[in-house]
Amino acid sequence: MKLLVTGGAGYVGSVCAAHLVTAGHDVTVLDDLSTGHPDAVPEGAQFVKGDLTEAAADVLAEGFDGVLHFAARSLVSESVQRPELYWSGNVVASLRLLEAMRLHGTPRLVFSSTAATYGEPEQVPIREDAPTRPTNPYGASKLAIDHMIGSYAVAHGLAATSLRYFNVAGAHGRFGERHTVETHLIPIVLQVAAGTRESVQIFGDDWPTADGTCVRDYIHVDDLAAAHVLALDHSETGRHAVYNLGSGTGFSVREVIEACRAVTGHPIPAVVAPRRGGDPAVLIASSEAMIGELGWRPERTDLATIVGDAWRFTREHQGV
Ligand code: UFG
Repeated sequence: MKLLVTGGAGYVGSVCAAHLVTAGHDVTVLDDLSTGHPDAVPEGAQFVKGDLTEAAADVLAEGFDGVLHFAARSLVSESVQRPELYWSGNVVASLRLLEAMRLHGTPRLVFSSTAATYGEPEQVPIREDAPTRPTNPYGASKLAIDHMIGSYAVAHGLAATSLRYFNVAGAHGRFGERHTVETHLIPIVLQVAAGTRESVQIFGDDWPTADGTCVRDYIHVDDLAAAHVLALDHSETGRHAVYNLGSGTGFSVREVIEACRAVTGHPIPAVVAPRRGGDPAVLIASSEAMIGELGWRPERTDLATIVGDAWRFTREHQGV
């Protein structure tokens, strides 16, 4: 298929673009490089520098079979402080993209949604029919886009899938996580091992969990990318499917740090700090729908593999 990957110079977008090229698709990456990196565009993909509001319509005019939409702002704390960036950069820009797709008859969409659409869960593992009560503008903006996509499927026959990711981690070859402002646990812990940070803060050790630290469901970015390829292949005209994507196992912050110590051989000093605002205690996905309906099989679910791949990437990029 001829596919447009928005945000394909970012972390998840670049890994998915690489998987799509490997699967034999004709891939064009559209990215404004506001947070992405030009060298993250995989070999074999075309690259267009531009943003969704201006460039998407021109690119789609060439005629595409589908769009994988990753371009977004994705920092929870930034979304609380500057919500306008999220309503504009996520919601308005996605509306422009949907309109460009409608104008040019692009039939398929796979959208990068998030567990943050659910907010504080009543039950874990979280299924797709759980209440959606986002606790920050980031999650609310992604939920609004999910609703837009659903209405386009009904009204305009779009074949669409929203994939709600839990905690994405790991790397794929030379494609991995490198944010200018890093907020995610595993890359921060590995920065300590790499010597670019002195210690990691544990945001609270008095949570109602076994060791008092927050529990998250870490999904390897390769398993996530494989899910996108499946979602594209199974999309149906006029249907908006929503799937959660996690490994189904929870690991605490302390367990993650311990796994990083084992993989890197570094003592990784950790200090307990106050809780971070907006963190739920436990987030674990039920991915039963994705597994049962699309035959998805996550293969890299153990923490040592996930951290090991992230560590190899960190060493290559930081010259450790
Ligand atoms: N944490 C620390 N110290 C740090 C960084 C993180 O203790 O320096 C803790 C957090 O408090 C949290 C856990 O590690 O308990 C994981 O934090 P991340 O920032 O890595 O990930 P989040 O669970 O906050 O966020 C992820 C995605 C978001 C998404 C959210 C859904 O990255 O995009 O899940 O709630 F919105």
